[in-house]
Amino acid sequence: MLTTKTIIKGFLKGIRQSTVASIGAGLTVAILPVLVVYAVIESLGFVESPHVGFVVYGVLTWAFILGHVMVFIGLFVLRSKKYPPLFDQDDFKDHFAESSRFNSVRKLILFVAFVTFANVMIIGVTAYNGYHYSESVDFCAKLCHKVMMPEYTAYQNSPHSRVACVECHIGTGAKWFVKSKLTGTRQLLAVSLNTYAQPIATPIHSLRPARETCEECHRPELFHGNKLKIFDKFLEDEENTHVQTVLLVRVGTGEFQGRRAEGIHGTVNPKRTISFKYSDFKREIISEVKLVREDGSEDVYKTEEDGTVADAGSHEGGSKILDCLDCHNRPTHIYLSPEEALDQKLMSGEIPHCRTSKDRPWT
Ligand code: HEC
Ligand code: HEC
Ligand code: HEC
Repeated sequence: MLTTKTIIKGFLKGIRQSTVASIGAGLTVAILPVLVVYAVIESLGFVESPHVGFVVYGVLTWAFILGHVMVFIGLFVLRSKKYPPLFDQDDFKDHFAESSRFNSVRKLILFVAFVTFANVMIIGVTAYNGYHYSESVDFCAKLCHKVMMPEYTAYQNSPHSRVACVECHIGTGAKWFVKSKLTGTRQLLAVSLNTYAQPIATPIHSLRPARETCEECHRPELFHGNKLKIFDKFLEDEENTHVQTVLLVRVGTGEFQGRRAEGIHGTVNPKRTISFKYSDFKREIISEVKLVREDGSEDVYKTEEDGTVADAGSHEGGSKILDCLDCHNRPTHIYLSPEEALDQKLMSGEIPHCRTSKDRPWT
């Protein structure tokens, strides 16, 4: 007769009889409390270390799942003549046939359902947290600290310091999510073997087309008119003379709701496509620029060599549709020259300049 007690006993006995299932059960039982406790303290915001996150989500969660698979295989697949299956078909047939014994089958089903539900819950919550962890700035920048330090430092002082790395480097959608995890695995290998390029070479040729990421937040078709920009500089004279250059920047717009395409962002007008051919890795030697309009008409501009530079057989050449990054290649990893950095600090008053300290004693 199958009672709850005999079922649990049967499971435990089955596990004991199989080495694979025993190891699996050991893993599961040891890791379970760690996962539960970690989920609680993490949701309360107590853990900050990206390394602990990596151990929990990158190692323990997988070991926990492996433990379950091992128990399953040990109990049901790797049975030998010496250890027959725990509950064979005849067992079940008997119980289903007789209504009086059906009660114990119900107990078995309830037991299995409960264990499965509890495990699915734990794995589900952990997988959900793990997904968010792998999309966090902590994971991208801090876990891989040595490699990402220059980018992370520049990022923290940029207008995008509250935009997560993944918003620009991966964006939304399953396709790029999978792609990023695959390239991530390759990069992890390159870091462990120390074979990655230092500094990391740009432009990044495998970056997701910028329009799919930047335009989640910015809409150039809505920019319009001109923008007055003031550039501040301090001369190297005794007075640190403050020189201001004022430029009227034609920020312009793409074609949208009856607006005329004009200015800088007319280049990313959805009704036109501008592409260019380049022949070097840096995409600096450009031999042809092509504009294709909505009606299919096109204008092609070529260098005097008539495109021969691009076709010279360089394996690093190619063609590209102009997008945000061909102009805004440093939107967040902004590396200032020493002069620019000093000008900024003088401007903000972090470093006093001669005139400021005299004229404004409070700075
Ligand atoms: C606003 C969007 C944006 C955000 C946010 C962002 N990046 Fe980038 N990242 C870029 C762009 C654009 C490039 C340069 C691509 C190019 O030149 O081809 C880049 C380049 C890089 C590079 C290559 C080396 C370099 O300096 O160009 C690394 C590494 C990098 N990012 C890591 C990170 C990390 C880590 C974070 C989060 C801390 C992050 N990025 C956040 C847009 C972003
Ligand atoms: C998740 C939203 C988000 C994404 C994605 C994003 N940005 Fe931004 N961007 C912002 C915010 C927020 C600011 C800061 C606005 C401010 O400070 O006024 C900003 C500012 C800017 C600025 C103005 C900087 C300045 O000095 O005033 C530029 C240029 C820019 N982003 C370009 C880009 C490019 C190029 C991409 C794609 C690689 C991109 N952004 C992706 C949110 C985003
Ligand atoms: C042909 C070069 C070029 C392209 C392509 C380009 N931009 Fe710009 N963008 C500029 C220039 C130049 C400015 C003005 C300079 C500044 O404000 O510092 C600017 C300004 C901006 C600003 C600040 C606008 C404001 O009013 O403050 C944002 C945001 C921006 N661009 C986003 C984008 C996005 C997103 C794309 C891609 C869809 C894009 N840009 C494509 C050259 C370009």
